[in-house]
Amino acid sequence: MTSTADDNTTRVAEMYDGFVGEQMPANLHFGYWSDDDDQVDLIAASERLTGRLVERLTPEPGQRILDLGCGVGGPALTLARSYDVEVVGITVSAGQVAEATARAQRAGLADRVRFQLADAMDLPFDDASFDGAWFFESLLHMPDKRRALSEAARVLRPG
Ligand SMILES: C[S@@+](CC[C@H](N)C(=O)[O-])C[C@H]1O[C@@H](n2cnc3c(N)ncnc32)[C@H](O)[C@@H]1O
Repeated sequence: MTSTADDNTTRVAEMYDGFVGEQMPANLHFGYWSDDDDQVDLIAASERLTGRLVERLTPEPGQRILDLGCGVGGPALTLARSYDVEVVGITVSAGQVAEATARAQRAGLADRVRFQLADAMDLPFDDASFDGAWFFESLLHMPDKRRALSEAARVLRPG
């Protein structure tokens, strides 16, 4: 990784560590509004966007899914509530790892959902060790997108 990429990752981690906690909404991304008259607030709309993504997936029971840039765990927990899958979430923010882990424990899902500190551009996982992966509004934060995508491809099983 270049030093520019390192600097960027450090800045992103510091930014997220600066505003993490129980008060954080579960979903740290934009929302889905059905039309101009749809008046739901951002929190409801971002939950809705997570739901719309999750409902389009068709994972098999027991599959292992990687959430690259997991925030405080809202999307990963929604995924695990919806399907009998194992989810690993990674983020460069230690504060988010702690908060997401606490949320998984409170949700009773810590046996299937775990979070760890890792850089998507340099994944600490074996080749072909996941069945699926997503970047949920996170790839834009990664300065070397080719490398992040290449790392995701490396850890996915063929097919
Ligand atoms: C806008 S938030 C989205 C969080 C989550 N996907 C969600 O939708 O709630 C962006 C996330 O990407 C993570 N991120 C940014 N750069 C990263 C990197 N190089 N490796 C891993 N995670 C990264 C941030 O720490 C943060 O968790």
